[in-house]
Amino acid sequence: MDRPDKTYHRIAFIPGDLNGITVTKAVSNANLDLERHLNLQIYPESFPYNTDYFLEKGIKELGDEELNELKKFDAIFLGAVGDDTRIARGTMEKGILLKIRKEFNQVVNLRPVVLFDGVCSRIVDKGSRDIDMVICRENTEGLYCGGGRIENAGTDDEVGIQEMRCSYRVVKRLTEYAIEVAKSRKRFPTPRVHMIFKSNVLEHAGKIWDRVYNEFRQREDVDIRYMHFDIFLANMVDHPEYFDVVVTENLMGDGATDLGAILQGGIGMAVSGNINIDGKFPSMFEPIHGTAPDKWYGLDERGNPLPGTFDAGKVQLIRPEAALFSYAMLLEHIGEVKAGGVLKRAALTNLRHSEYKFMPLDELVERACKYVRDA
Ligand code: IPM
Ligand code: MN
Repeated sequence: MDRPDKTYHRIAFIPGDLNGITVTKAVSNANLDLERHLNLQIYPESFPYNTDYFLEKGIKELGDEELNELKKFDAIFLGAVGDDTRIARGTMEKGILLKIRKEFNQVVNLRPVVLFDGVCSRIVDKGSRDIDMVICRENTEGLYCGGGRIENAGTDDEVGIQEMRCSYRVVKRLTEYAIEVAKSRKRFPTPRVHMIFKSNVLEHAGKIWDRVYNEFRQREDVDIRYMHFDIFLANMVDHPEYFDVVVTENLMGDGATDLGAILQGGIGMAVSGNINIDGKFPSMFEPIHGTAPDKWYGLDERGNPLPGTFDAGKVQLIRPEAALFSYAMLLEHIGEVKAGGVLKRAALTNLRHSEYKFMPLDELVERACKYVRDA
């Protein structure tokens, strides 16, 4: 890759599969308008890492060649990967998403759960002042560490053992990061960080979370609290206003942020940034909604996607806002705060439109681009 000019930001785009391709196209369109109208200097390059690529190459994960290429970029935008109709379930997720998160040491998965003013939550009596938290999901270990084994395979005594790894170094680093995020937000006079785990039951991994909690709880500049995961989920719905910044284990954060997406209006508007804290590797930004095969393929009578079919009408049901917000987050991360702000407001203007639910995808993309052009 030749870098055309030092002032350019090098952004790698990985559209991925299905819905991921659609929403990345929306982002690319908006990006063109940002470049032209806000003088944004981006050097984009698109990488075809998806199910076709894996099938053609006969690989199960990205190798050194692909990762070395991606390393040269300032940031990565990922649409979504995975197509269970064509490749074994989990191959793309593990081979691309989890691989990059781990190899690029993206220790935090930053997932804001913010209900924007003018957007309806699914919770009737909560508004935008109540739902405004950032979940810092641990992103490289926990129950996603990949450790484990099968014992007594194929017998009635077969057991699957999945390991949860929580290292002191990572949990501490994550918590320090969460504290910085809380300080920058100024949601409460004393920034508040909730550590979420289940240390009453998960005793080994829990020791690490308790140790870090005990080390930080005496601090005066920050209000560190601990809450068990189960009651945290209940409180997310019942009292979302308690929360400012939350730090939690990988799988717990995964589940909590899908719930968070619903609090903020739907899975189609939730964003994430996989952050490499020390800046040694690029960070990666992606909407959390996945490839949504149900919005791409025709379905059989049980609602399962029919391989090889494509329903162009249904694709118009895909919402591009989570991808636009994620790209805005990327822009802010690389220092393009103004462009990020414009794109965020463009997506938000779509969401606030009274006809939003009925607008086809193409119209939403065009409206967002027009907003950028008029900015
Ligand atoms: C997410 C997704 C991924 C995860 C999957 C696709 C592996 O659900 O980013 O939340 O579990 O982390
Ligand atoms: Mn998830």
